[in-house]
Amino acid sequence: MTRGAAKPRGAGRGTNSGAPSHSNSGRQQAEQPFSESIDGEIKDDTAVSVKRTYEVEAVVSDAILEGRQRFEVRWKGFGIEHNTWLTKDDMEEQYPQALAKYLKAQGKSKADLSEFHRLLSHTNGPVIPIVNTVDEAGCPDNFTYINQNIYSDEVPRPCTPMFWCECTNGCCDGCECTKERNYDNRGLLLSMGDERIVECGPLCKCGDDCVNRVVQKGRKVVLELRRYPHKGWGVVTKQHLKKGTFVAEYVGEVITSDEAENRGFKDKAQGQTYLFDLDQEFVNDICDFSIDAKTHGNISRFFNHSCGPNMRTRSIYVEHRDPRLHRLAIFATRDIKAGEELTIDYSPSAVEGESVKGDPCHCGSSKCRKFMYF
Ligand SMILES: C[S@@+](CC[C@H](N)C(=O)[O-])C[C@H]1O[C@@H](n2cnc3c(N)ncnc32)[C@H](O)[C@@H]1O
Ligand SMILES: [Zn+2]
Ligand SMILES: [Zn+2]
Ligand SMILES: [Zn+2]
Ligand SMILES: [Zn+2]
Repeated sequence: MTRGAAKPRGAGRGTNSGAPSHSNSGRQQAEQPFSESIDGEIKDDTAVSVKRTYEVEAVVSDAILEGRQRFEVRWKGFGIEHNTWLTKDDMEEQYPQALAKYLKAQGKSKADLSEFHRLLSHTNGPVIPIVNTVDEAGCPDNFTYINQNIYSDEVPRPCTPMFWCECTNGCCDGCECTKERNYDNRGLLLSMGDERIVECGPLCKCGDDCVNRVVQKGRKVVLELRRYPHKGWGVVTKQHLKKGTFVAEYVGEVITSDEAENRGFKDKAQGQTYLFDLDQEFVNDICDFSIDAKTHGNISRFFNHSCGPNMRTRSIYVEHRDPRLHRLAIFATRDIKAGEELTIDYSPSAVEGESVKGDPCHCGSSKCRKFMYF
């Protein structure tokens, strides 16, 4: 039996669907700053009842969830996976000091993030809190949150699938789709090489629990959007990630390379670009299409560049196998601690010390090439 009861009542993952159901029966210790707490009863396998007190360590972020502003509470002695999202009413009633401290700290930041919270609430993954203690930047202009690629009129839609496997006993050995296994039983990517990933598709005879269906199930990891000096917005993981973890898909508007070239010039002049070439299957940079996440994208469009990154992209196929229109999945390339910024190398083929000029790089890595090349 798991010790699922060994956490604060109402605790749950910060997901859109994980609306907190918090008990009002807590006892407060209001005279001690920041030690507001509730009592909980834990029953283990032997049915021995143990009393323990749950203390609020801090309110760490807030977000719009199911149409209401909620506050993310971290509990003393518990990992972030036990953080709880509470409504303002719950907070005012049970943890007023922690709430006041959080709001005071937020008050120092002039940024109005309410519109941005509303935008990010369209994610189909765990809720994304936003933290800006750097400047007044809020919601980006003219940006729509999407969860899957959209295609511009000039781009052909990928054809219907013509491939499937007949496996009915899992897709481990001899599967027509995988040939060699892509993922271990925990869904971690097995190879960090460049080869394409083909997942089981809609026509495959295997079920939804097939080991070869990971990226298609969407983002599961808990992320936070954070403002950085010199880099703009960036993304932090709120949980420990194992090497090979699928983090997110890079989605946006799929456009032709010619259109990408035009947009690239304009974007560079404005200082920020969100273009990703679909060239992972091609040598010599030949590619017909690119993904632009400037006006339509998901959390991936906020991943910053690092010359010593902790993630990489891989080409992935689910519904079709047209190499010109592969999807882009982003995986952790090493174990990553909670609180680390998540980064990719925008130009993995660039050479350290190469004197090609681009925008100055502020990645802070010991391997920094000083400039970002696109
Ligand atoms: C795909 S966006 C990343 C999200 C972006 N920071 C934002 O605020 O929307 C790429 C842009 O972020 C900035 N950026 C990303 N990595 C950077 C780095 N290492 N140093 C400086 N700027 C960076 C550059 O302006 C770049 O054009
Ligand atoms: Zn199979
Ligand atoms: Zn299959
Ligand atoms: Zn399968
Ligand atoms: Zn760098």
